[in-house]
Amino acid sequence: MRKEININVSESEAQRQLQFVDELKEIYQKKSDELGRPLTYHIATFGCQMNAKDSEKLAGILEKIGFVETDTEVADFVAYNTCTVRENANTRVYGRLGYLNSLKKKNPNMMIALCGCMMQEDAVVDKIRKSYRFVDIIFGTHNIFKLAELIQARLSSKSMIIDIWKDTDQIVEDLPSERKYKFKAGVNIMYGCNNFCSYCIVPYVRGRERSRNPEDILREIRELVADGVVEIMLLGQNVNSYGKTLENPMTFAELLIEIEKIEGLERIRFMTSHPKDLSDSLIEVMKNSKKICNHLHLPFQSGSTKILKIMNRKYTKEDYLSLVDRIKAAMPNISLTTDIIIGFPGETEEDFLETLDVVKKVRYDSAYTFLYSKRTGTPAANMESQVEDSVAKDRFDRLLKEVQAISSELTSKHQGSIQKVLVEEINEQDPTLMTGRLSNNVLVHFKGNKDMIGKIFNVNLKECKGFYYIGELV
Ligand code: SAH
Ligand code: SF4
Ligand code: F3S
Repeated sequence: MRKEININVSESEAQRQLQFVDELKEIYQKKSDELGRPLTYHIATFGCQMNAKDSEKLAGILEKIGFVETDTEVADFVAYNTCTVRENANTRVYGRLGYLNSLKKKNPNMMIALCGCMMQEDAVVDKIRKSYRFVDIIFGTHNIFKLAELIQARLSSKSMIIDIWKDTDQIVEDLPSERKYKFKAGVNIMYGCNNFCSYCIVPYVRGRERSRNPEDILREIRELVADGVVEIMLLGQNVNSYGKTLENPMTFAELLIEIEKIEGLERIRFMTSHPKDLSDSLIEVMKNSKKICNHLHLPFQSGSTKILKIMNRKYTKEDYLSLVDRIKAAMPNISLTTDIIIGFPGETEEDFLETLDVVKKVRYDSAYTFLYSKRTGTPAANMESQVEDSVAKDRFDRLLKEVQAISSELTSKHQGSIQKVLVEEINEQDPTLMTGRLSNNVLVHFKGNKDMIGKIFNVNLKECKGFYYIGELV
């Protein structure tokens, strides 16, 4: 079953899905009674925050059916929510499938589902259909809300269920979602991407850009806050172009002003910002906000204007640097982070030095550095002059050294200051310590107790340990 595009937006779709949930609840309750134990599920999430958010939606449906979460893949229902942004993301999934097969041989009740971005690629689905026949359900990024229906279909069929939609204009809301943290949550503000950066697979696997209605976003955040959430992360591949596709267009800056008004909400984060769409009014809103965190993730990908043009990024090196200047002028203390790709086709040593130059000029608190990975179907995959692996690796190592040197200098600049920390969890190594985050996203460990989780405290940042602080409650 493959759908080209789903145009019929059914208002009662969520209701329909909840009926499948109810039916499955009964079936699985019987199964659980027979086995004399609860049925378990495990979701492994690869990739970005969008996938993490989608996994919470999948978990919500599974919990409603009656499954109980477990830490490992020794479970009755296992889902891999996959990523395909770089080749190694795919390799990791294939690498783990053999292990799942061995588990399934031991547990006849086990059901294996594969979903997410990798499944939007025909070649992947063909390969799984042929070589990984033990997989029960394959679905994509546009129809995760259908999980219960797909489980139902698998129970009444002898073979693998495949349901991939090529694109959708449907946004199905009001289904259960199981949050990983009680006090912080991701909130989708838009889906998909229209930018078609020439190296990137995301627009092909996530479809066209669709913004959610502001009323729906605000309602969701209010509900989250009423349920104990103090920090939200607004999610979109390009949040700065939020609202363009709405019936009544609205800018991202305007949306933020409305979100800021929600009482009880303490911190607002967002990602990702595309430099081409970052407006001066957004800078103004950030500067005046009491809730927007002191952090901006602003990927630049390459410092070479020539490469940026071939990447289809729609800004030059100078545009980017002047944008950073405006941001820093408005918010001198802002923590900037970025993404950089090394070894894009045609990248010369001079182009690489331009990238290094941006890193030295901007001085990022941290940077995610990636070796270019060829994605079949993207324009860059067919470009001549792909950079040799050894050359790219050498540039990558030089870049990383620079990034890390600057990063450790910058992190320590807050040593000795008192800052607000949102406590997130008990420290994994030392249970007398609590782990929390500063507004700029840096981790802090300090003595405390688990009742502090989800609350904000003033902490003295006593000692910087490279990428985190050891602090003391004040
Ligand atoms: N929408 C975000 C990025 C999402 S993908 C943005 O535009 O900033 C996250 C990061 O993966 C990108 O910023 C890019 O640095 C990296 N990336 C994407 N495609 C890649 C590829 N083919 N090879 C290497 N890195 C890639
Ligand atoms: Fe990919 Fe570019 Fe869209 Fe980001 S903006 S998801 S890099 S196409
Ligand atoms: Fe990966 Fe899909 Fe995110 S390809 S980076 S999980 S949008």
